[in-house]
Amino acid sequence: MKKAHALAGLVFGTTLLGAGITNAFAADETLRSLAEKNGIYVGAILNSQWFSGGLPGNYEQIHKTQFNIVVAENEMKFDATEPQEGRFNYGNGDKMVKYAQQNGMRVRGHALAWHSQVPGWVNNYRNDKQKLLKVLKNHIQNVVGHWKGKVAEWDVVNEAISNNEPMWRSQSVWYQGIGPEFIDSAFVWTHAVDPDAELCYNDYNLEQGINPKAKAGFLLEQVKRWVKNGIPIHCVGSQTHVEDTTTDKHFIGSPDSLRSLAKELAKLNVKLKITELDIGFKSGINVSKKDLERQGQTFRQYLDIILEEPNADTYLIWGVSDKWSWLGGLNRQKGLIYDDNLKPKPAFDSILVRLQTYEPPKDTAKKDTTVTDTTKKDTTVKDTTKKDTAEAIKLFANHGSLSMHLAGRTLFITGATAKATKVDIFDMQGRPVFSTLCKNGAAELDNLSEGFYVVRVKSGMSNLIQRVTIK
Ligand code: G3I
Repeated sequence: MKKAHALAGLVFGTTLLGAGITNAFAADETLRSLAEKNGIYVGAILNSQWFSGGLPGNYEQIHKTQFNIVVAENEMKFDATEPQEGRFNYGNGDKMVKYAQQNGMRVRGHALAWHSQVPGWVNNYRNDKQKLLKVLKNHIQNVVGHWKGKVAEWDVVNEAISNNEPMWRSQSVWYQGIGPEFIDSAFVWTHAVDPDAELCYNDYNLEQGINPKAKAGFLLEQVKRWVKNGIPIHCVGSQTHVEDTTTDKHFIGSPDSLRSLAKELAKLNVKLKITELDIGFKSGINVSKKDLERQGQTFRQYLDIILEEPNADTYLIWGVSDKWSWLGGLNRQKGLIYDDNLKPKPAFDSILVRLQTYEPPKDTAKKDTTVTDTTKKDTTVKDTTKKDTAEAIKLFANHGSLSMHLAGRTLFITGATAKATKVDIFDMQGRPVFSTLCKNGAAELDNLSEGFYVVRVKSGMSNLIQRVTIK
């Protein structure tokens, strides 16, 4: 049960608590201790200056005291972890994982398949679908495999939806080279490597409503399809890079709109996470104390979603101090909760007070932070081989806990209970073609020629029979 820090009669409106007013709560309470009391994760990036050792000592002290979840700003992206084809570089990621383990923090992995920060050598394969599938699969198997059991959740796919109209981001090398089914494949391959990791689709501008014309509306339709097809998606990451409403007339997003997305995702048993929060002001304008207090109120409104929506558990800020923030590149400023001198801003107070005074409804169960594995759900999947699904992935109905996913020529089997799980392949006339045993949740079907087959997977008392298409 979420525990609140009950305060009889001492409830200040967050705008009254400016940085200059000492608040009336226990001095040793931190965002982290209160997040843990409320069963949620509050975190911030370890920025690239941390990795290069360019920060004052109190940055790290603040970070590990105030936060219980961490993500690398750039150091686990494709260009950082596989700068040359087949050459993997885990040094910085390992440094962060070690820091997180030493400080009892949850680790987010960001990001496996993104159109940006992709090394040049990947773009060379833009017109070779099979090669690009192999590149993506190999990257995922190596990177996720390296941090298996240490990275609790992954942004499997980042920013795959176009910003301008509800459709896929067409200039992405993954979309251009493979098609939208690269998403299905990426999730299935990641889940096959680390079935315990929570797998997210991550994007920005999801706080602008869920009508079909909005980005979040388009995404919601995809999430419904992925869940129905047994794709192992567990969460949607809303980056939530927003601008203070008074300085961005075009900004149409709002906490209420993001909350409506959370509510729709809850119906699909998919979580909503705030993964890259900053609330900036236009660069070059004078930001008053009143502006900073209003900013604090907006930080609090986004936090309310995480506290109040049962399928939301993560509130992650894309930086600690305004002194080191990517926002300058977006013509924004002062979007974080500590100022240039690492002093808490009113936004820090707003978040702290909210965490201290939050009273969960009596019947609220503690947030379920375990991975809700949608692949185990009893989905009534129609024959996906006829649907527009990933060429590399043909998905099948689950049978009890047993389910299988074909990726290329590897059959991934999840939910097998018996030690020996047998895989028998028949032709469409029912004649036995090939049999093998499933090893570590997978069976290789390399020697099958293209065509239609029937696969029977037997594990203990369960068995699952489905048609597959080998391309
Ligand atoms: O590492 C090089 C360094 O060697 C070189 O001297 C320096 C100057 O050219 O550049 C350094 O690389 C920079 C990198 O950050 C590491 O600092 C890149 O130029 C710069 O483009 C890159 O910016 C990052 C940006 O993603 C790239 O798209 C930002 O730090 C990072 O905050 C930002 O984060 C993204 C999330 O991953 C996805 N959501 C949006 C968010 C903001 O764009």
